[in-house]
Amino acid sequence: MGKTVILGSGGRLGAALARAWRAAGEDVVALDRAALPLGADGKVESVLGDIQFDVLVNCAALTNVDYCETHPDEAFKVNGEAVNDIALHCEDRGIRCIHISTDYVFDGNTSKPYTEADAPSPISVYGTSKRMGEDAVLSAGARHWVVRVSWVFGPDRVSFVDQVISRALSENRVDAVDDKWATPTYTLDCATLLRPFLRRVDGGGLLHLANTGVCTWQEYGQWALDCAKDAGLPLKTLNVGGVPMSSIKAFIAKRPIYTAMETGKLASLTRLQPRSWKEAVKAHVCDQVERGFWNVS
Ligand SMILES: NC(=O)c1ccc[n+]([C@@H]2O[C@H](COP(=O)([O-])OP(=O)(O)OC[C@H]3O[C@@H](n4cnc5c(N)ncnc54)[C@H](OP(=O)(O)O)[C@@H]3O)[C@@H](O)[C@H]2O)c1
Repeated sequence: MGKTVILGSGGRLGAALARAWRAAGEDVVALDRAALPLGADGKVESVLGDIQFDVLVNCAALTNVDYCETHPDEAFKVNGEAVNDIALHCEDRGIRCIHISTDYVFDGNTSKPYTEADAPSPISVYGTSKRMGEDAVLSAGARHWVVRVSWVFGPDRVSFVDQVISRALSENRVDAVDDKWATPTYTLDCATLLRPFLRRVDGGGLLHLANTGVCTWQEYGQWALDCAKDAGLPLKTLNVGGVPMSSIKAFIAKRPIYTAMETGKLASLTRLQPRSWKEAVKAHVCDQVERGFWNVS
């Protein structure tokens, strides 16, 4: 059986992939930021060079969109230059690289889901730095995959779903942006949908991976509250109000308006159909309640 290295295993997606794939019997080496700090000179060569493996999945990235906007050098180093080092290292050793990227490589000026054939046109430092990483992986060799995900949520790090529910447990009013659209992606579904690519010997290129359907942050949050109510959480409000993105003064970077992604290519390659974002959010909320995440009696 092949060995898989996961980078960014301390993060939301990397931690979930490592746990789920190990539970499924995969041989996984999980490297977090301390084990392989991207951007530190020579680290990619020295750390990866000591390991025998067949596939590398890179979930490590500087993911805070506003931090990237104010720290562009660091963003380009971690999300761009370091990814180039990883891709070249993999190509040299005949290792397949599966690199995780983002819907933020698109400008969002559309009203129908993006396909892999659509041209990226990022509008933020984060998006531009991630596009630089995509280019590096795709030009290193034809057998590497760039997998774009959007609005990632799961049990390993707090995300929008958990934050909305936490707020509704303590406040009488909860608002969320209602003029920005995309598709949530559940990390546990990602583990199932990506696993076939650890064994695939053919192909390579771009791939869009998300749950199915499209929503605004307001609809996403409202559904999270609906699920939390059904699960018996004592919410102080049952409604998420809608506000325009222009009213969020804390946003520094520009955000694309519409970045839902078409997942037909993934389904045809794997014969696996992602479930709807609503089913995935429901499963996550039920799991969080069951493990006592909100600690309510
Ligand atoms: N979160 C989303 O909604 C979203 C949406 C679209 C695409 N994506 C993409 O999905 C992938 C996984 O994101 P995620 O949600 O799992 O984000 P995350 O929880 O922020 O995980 C990213 C991981 O990368 C690590 N990291 C940051 N800088 C690093 C460095 N210099 N060297 C080594 N590791 C470093 C972080 O370490 P620390 O734990 O120390 O911070 C963290 O563990 C990323 O490629 C991201 O661009 C995410």
